[in-house]
Amino acid sequence: MIRVFAPGVVKLFGEHAVVYGKPAIAVAVDKGVEVACEKGDKTVVRTGKAYVDIEYEHGTGAAHAKGHEPFLSYVAAALRKAEESFGRLAASFEIRGDFPPSVGAATSASVSVGILKAYSACLGVDVGKAELAKLAHGVELEVQGAASPMDTAVSAIGGMLRIEPNPFSYRRIDSAVDGFVLAVLPRRGTTKDIVAGVRALKARRRSVDAVIDAIGRLVDEAEGCLASSDLECVGELMEINNWLLGALGVVGHDVVMMLKYLKPYIYGGKISGAGRGGIVVLLPKRRQELREALAAMEVPSVEVKVDRDGARVV
Ligand code: MEV
Repeated sequence: MIRVFAPGVVKLFGEHAVVYGKPAIAVAVDKGVEVACEKGDKTVVRTGKAYVDIEYEHGTGAAHAKGHEPFLSYVAAALRKAEESFGRLAASFEIRGDFPPSVGAATSASVSVGILKAYSACLGVDVGKAELAKLAHGVELEVQGAASPMDTAVSAIGGMLRIEPNPFSYRRIDSAVDGFVLAVLPRRGTTKDIVAGVRALKARRRSVDAVIDAIGRLVDEAEGCLASSDLECVGELMEINNWLLGALGVVGHDVVMMLKYLKPYIYGGKISGAGRGGIVVLLPKRRQELREALAAMEVPSVEVKVDRDGARVV
């Protein structure tokens, strides 16, 4: 039995604008997805209680889920891509996730990266991080239609990365800023639909281009603040990024109210990912009181730290 860990990804700066060629900064975290793989006579994917069992047919590439499962399309596309790239493998896979599906912690990216990594490792192939990132991005593109390489690259490579999407490149940011609290709000809509909504707004109103440019400029400034581990600056830029994302229509009243209430306990906070609920990343100033305030609001939360190594056999 082979076990693989693929980290979740917290978007610190630049989501949505990265779809239009702007840089972004994201961090791999110590919570994510574990995929176990064991060779067998047919391919079956089992998932934890948040998920559902999926059967995959070699040859036709068809996958059948028992029950409704938003990840079916990612799992099926990852298996097809793995078969194309590494050859045929009949095996049972078991996926266990730390986050509920579709909350904005790049669970789909971690699942795609995890399946590809486990499939190759089960066949004895040591797939390189760059290749893994590229294949997993292909999975997201196939399923979502539009996806930047950010989430899949950060889960595959690990650490805090500045991503340039077009052409893809990255650099590591060496920062002492670590230890984030993620608040998990109910999510309204899928990444695909939310990204499509922003695209439609951008097509309707040319002023939106200025918002996207402003996010790109903010990422440059944020990289400097992260590199100098300036918590006040990072927090303030998170707040500004959140208002700019609000101008794109992806930040709800619930997030604004929550951030206002949590202000005394954080340097800053913002949605992380496509938005409309989902994960809100908080940079804690008074960690214990922050956790207590979230608990009092009955908002589930989880603490994460930077994962420096990316997807790997464990
Ligand atoms: C989703 O996690 C982040 C977005 O920027 C979409 C993408 O980068 O593909 C909203």
